[in-house]
Amino acid sequence: MIKLTVNGAQRSFDGDPDMPLLWYLRDELGLTGTKFGCGQALCGVCTIHLGGTATRSCTTPVSAAADQEVLTIEGLSPDGDHPVQVAWRDLNVAQCGYCQCGQIMQAASLLKDSPMPTDAEIDASMSGNICRCGTYPRIRAAIHQAAGQPATNAGERL
Ligand code: FES
Ligand code: FES
Repeated sequence: MIKLTVNGAQRSFDGDPDMPLLWYLRDELGLTGTKFGCGQALCGVCTIHLGGTATRSCTTPVSAAADQEVLTIEGLSPDGDHPVQVAWRDLNVAQCGYCQCGQIMQAASLLKDSPMPTDAEIDASMSGNICRCGTYPRIRAAIHQAAGQPATNAGERL
């Protein structure tokens, strides 16, 4: 029996411990904000926080979450008003939206570790999160806004 916490709620799991955490979150808990893309830790759409660290849930077995805290996009803020989410809305970051929950979770992790990131730090942290719609300039601008920095050169960024 694996015990873990998901978005603040105690959970227990007695299935295959090698099952990807993503399947558990989506199929058993119904937390479908976290998406499936490549299944190989290459695209970032499945990003959640595990023990406070941005983690690809597609290649993380449920067993790795034992006695740990898992945070998904549904648990990031009770009202959807995490600074990253607010900035995302203000700057209309999303296009098709498929990658965006992963982007937001990665960005929230970055800002927790580096509250005022430089462009280089943003690019380094976000480089594993692929957006086929090419929203990268707006993502970078929104991270600066969420950090409380003016989105200078906004015309270039957007
Ligand atoms: S689905 Fe997990 S990184 Fe692509
Ligand atoms: S908004 Fe479409 S894949 Fe990123």
